[in-house]
Order: sequence, then structure tokens, then C-alpha cells
Amino acid sequence: MVTIDRFRRAVPARSDAGHRKWSCGWALRAVVSAHAVAIFGQPVFAGVYLSGDYDGLRWHLAGANTVTSLGYVQLIAAIVVWVRLRQAWPFVATLALVAAETVQYFAGMDGALWLHLPLGVLTVVALTVMFIAVWRQPVLRPAPRTAWAPREEEASG
Ligand code: HEM
Repeated sequence: MVTIDRFRRAVPARSDAGHRKWSCGWALRAVVSAHAVAIFGQPVFAGVYLSGDYDGLRWHLAGANTVTSLGYVQLIAAIVVWVRLRQAWPFVATLALVAAETVQYFAGMDGALWLHLPLGVLTVVALTVMFIAVWRQPVLRPAPRTAWAPREEEASG
């Protein structure tokens, strides 16, 4: 005989695991987006400084601190995505980006513009590509529980 507990709830509900996966995909998108906005300011502030306004260098330094901090936050989000969604590429890409930004930071402090300018362009391009990739890739949605569907383990016997 079939009992009521053999069926899922009639009211659709999110599965907790699905919801967690969904939120960590969105968290990565949010951090990558904030990081991209911050890095786009860097060439602008550098340009302000090179035009003769010394405040531009102060903003560029504040931007550098924001960009590198967001890079490390993105690394944590990418680790969570790797563990929960089993997707390693955001972590590998973020690790390369964070390494480049760290070198970029020290090249800026040293005034090594031969390295700082091309690496700056490269990091902006790399983060833009990553921004497009995370927004193009669909984020897994938590599957709604369907009314009166038998539980998986019971359906299989
Ligand atoms: C295309 C992008 C970028 C351009 C064109 C650019 C350009 C510059 C320029 C012209 C300077 C002044 C160097 C000097 O006076 O000797 C500078 C300094 C600096 N940059 Fe960048 N930069 C870029 C991106 C970045 C990024 C992404 C970071 C951080 C990860 C960064 C971190 C720094 C730092 C820490 C300094 C030294 C600031 C100071 O001395 O107070 N830059 N940059």
C-alpha cells in the first residue's frame, strides 16, 4: 500500500542543496562584477594623474587597494564554487588574475611602468573576459519539488 510519506510535499519548495548552489553561483557573479567595475576605474585615474592632477594618483592607489582586495574575495567565492558546483575554472582563472594584480600592485609602487602599463591592460581584459564568462554561464537553479512525485530513493525501489 502507498502511504502519504512516500510522496514529496504538494507545495513546491526549494531543495536546500540546490538553493546553496544557486546562491554561490550568484555570489561569484556579484563579486566578479564589483571587481570589474573597480578595475575599469584604474586606467581612468591613471589618465587623470598623467594629465597633471595629482589627486588622480591618490584615487589610483585607493582603486588599487579595492581591486586587489576584491580579487581575494573573488578567490574565496571561486573556491566555494569549486567545492559546491564542482567547477574549477573560476578558481584557476581567479588565481592567475590575483597573481597578475599582485605583481601589478608592486610594479606600480616601484614605478616600473614598462611592466605596469601592459600588465594593467592585460588584467583589465582578463577580468572583462571572466565577467562575460560568469554571466553567460547559466547558474544552476534549485529544482522545485513537484507535487506528488515519489522520492528518488523510493522510486528506484
Ligand atoms: C590599464 C591600467 C593601469 C594603468 C594605465 C596604470 C597606470 C599607472 C601609472 C601611470 C602610475 C604612476 C606610476 C608613477 O608615477 O611612477 C601607476 C601607479 C600605481 N598603480 Fe597603476 N595602472 C593601471 C592599473 C593598475 C591596477 C589594476 C593596479 C592594482 C592592482 C594598479 C596599482 C598601482 C599602484 C599601487 C601604483 C602606485 C601608486 C602610488 O605610488 O601611490 N594599477 N599606475
